[in-house]
Amino acid sequence: MSIKPIQYRDGICRMIDQRLLPTEEVWLDYTDYQGIAEAIRTMVVRGAPAIGVAAAFGAYFGARDIYADDFEAFYSQFEEVCAVLAATRPTAVNLFWALDRMKAYVLASKDYPVSDIKTTLEFEAMAIADEDVRINMAMGRKGAELMPAKGTILTHCNAGALATGGYGTALGVIRAAVEAGKEISVYADETRPFNQGSRLTAWELQRDKIPVTLICDNMAGYLMSKGEIDGVIVGADRIAANGDVANKIGTYTVAILAKEHGIPFYVAAPVSTIDLNIADGSHIPIEERDAREVTHTGEKQMAPDDIAVRNPAFDVTPSRLVTAIITEHGVVQGDYQQGLKAAVEKVR
Ligand code: MRU
Repeated sequence: MSIKPIQYRDGICRMIDQRLLPTEEVWLDYTDYQGIAEAIRTMVVRGAPAIGVAAAFGAYFGARDIYADDFEAFYSQFEEVCAVLAATRPTAVNLFWALDRMKAYVLASKDYPVSDIKTTLEFEAMAIADEDVRINMAMGRKGAELMPAKGTILTHCNAGALATGGYGTALGVIRAAVEAGKEISVYADETRPFNQGSRLTAWELQRDKIPVTLICDNMAGYLMSKGEIDGVIVGADRIAANGDVANKIGTYTVAILAKEHGIPFYVAAPVSTIDLNIADGSHIPIEERDAREVTHTGEKQMAPDDIAVRNPAFDVTPSRLVTAIITEHGVVQGDYQQGLKAAVEKVR
């Protein structure tokens, strides 16, 4: 069983503190929306679908704690709760998707007593969490067909169980391929500066006994040139209508390397990651994070005092570099504009 990083029971949302992995496995309990917002902002929980799941529980907690019997008063305070949760991180669209779904649910229930709406919102958040795992497994089955019978796949960042409700997107595809009997081994990019690859992907695959070898980000080109990488698979934080993919910083570099070496570059993402309101990747908001992530490794300073630093947390890979986008509703290839729209419409 892959890890379930967000576990909800009896009014408590328990999340594994991803900042402490792989050396410490600490679970933190959350019971209010402010705590969940802080957990997302500080990366206790991270990864696009996982952020969406956490935000859904945050929205429920916020709704539950509103003292108002009148729907209008309740809804205006609920919108404030959602605004606090939405302000935590800007790039992963799953955050906004989950909050929009919770808001739509509330609006559709406006003729019911507020107390009933609060109760059923709990089920809606739980449904978002459960559906995410099912979606990842469906995506895994579709993506597994694209994996070689035997080969080595490079991944960047962590798009695994830890980044989702469970099972994973990119790592879900790898997991499904292994479950189907394919002999897959993984190269995990360390993914500087936050090291999601070395800390999280390496930990999760090793735990699940899927062969994994850790490399520094700057080693991928060399290994591709030696013929040691048969394919690349990554997740996504937001996919624009034309198929441009925002994902962890460094993904674009890997995509260019893959193109140069004639290696397929796959993206695995649920339909909730597709943002048809964004025409192309240039409009995707890119989070800039604290300079300390670049200047320090843990507590150790690795750069001179007062050095100028840039720390964009994501980049955009143009769709022309993407071999296929794997969703729970099928594999989109070629005409992304049309294919992504069709995948989104299957959900509506
Ligand atoms: O900053 P993070 O760790 O939240 O970034 C995560 C990624 O970039 C993942 O690759 C992406 O969210 C896909 S997760 C299934």
